[in-house]
Amino acid sequence: MTQLSLSQVSLHYGSDPGAPAVLQDISLTLRRGEFISVIGRSGSGKTSLLNLAAGFIAPSAGRVSMAGRPVSGPGPERAVVFQEDALLPWKSVLENVALPLKLAGMARAGRRDKALHWLAAVGLEDQGGKPVWQLSGGQRQRVGIARALAADPAFLLMDEPLGALDAMTRDQMHELLLRLWRASHAGALLITHSVEEALFLSTSVVVLAPGPGRITLTEPCSWGRRFLAGEDPRALKSEAGFILARERLLSAIREGRDDPRAVAA
Ligand SMILES: Nc1ncnc2c1ncn2[C@@H]1O[C@H](COP(=O)(O)OP(=O)(O)O)[C@@H](O)[C@H]1O
Ligand SMILES: [Mg+2]
Repeated sequence: MTQLSLSQVSLHYGSDPGAPAVLQDISLTLRRGEFISVIGRSGSGKTSLLNLAAGFIAPSAGRVSMAGRPVSGPGPERAVVFQEDALLPWKSVLENVALPLKLAGMARAGRRDKALHWLAAVGLEDQGGKPVWQLSGGQRQRVGIARALAADPAFLLMDEPLGALDAMTRDQMHELLLRLWRASHAGALLITHSVEEALFLSTSVVVLAPGPGRITLTEPCSWGRRFLAGEDPRALKSEAGFILARERLLSAIREGRDDPRAVAA
């Protein structure tokens, strides 16, 4: 089965070997059909971890691999959705979604069909002709997600894609993201600072503690799958199990100290 793996990965920025590690001994495997969220304080290395998985940067030690082969750079099977939408504002919504397909050499008719399909999947079928600058923040993020999925990626890597949205739009986006994840059969990696978002969406949530970034807790979850099976989202989020898991994650985030040696001293 296709999987994207980080094995005993450490990361230092720059060439100074004495510089503190940003990530230390991270092992994480994402399979298609899984949804892993990474939460942790600002500066704990979440974006660095996603950039390693995307192939934008290489680890200082350890291995990043996909389907058993080393990852040596970005690739179309790993689509990325950024925190700030990375759309071309003067181009139409449809052109933005179709752009990666154009770059991949797909014929015009095929890329139009595919782009229209994913625009409909994110509820923007009527907006294809508009320039991106006319859309709201939530709509832009939906265009970014449609663009990512249009290339049929095996993995969808998202760095706080909903961070700038208001609470109501976020809740709607959660339900949409779960449906898109199911429809795409991709493995999803989501960086977020919202514990509730992570719990509701994921098949497992990983806590990253800072200084150096390391995994301190992995929490398996099934609320997203139960939502997709028809259960009521508000009832799921008020279950005792959900609230207990939220407290475990919040404690793990609170306990992570900047430097474990400083605590020991
Ligand atoms: N390109 C870079 N060069 C040097 N240091 C960086 C770079 N990117 C991030 N860092 C540092 O690495 C640490 C982790 O950053 P980041 O991965 O962005 O964390 P997070 O996304 O959890 O906030 C921070 O201390 C940050 O300053
Ligand atoms: Mg970040």
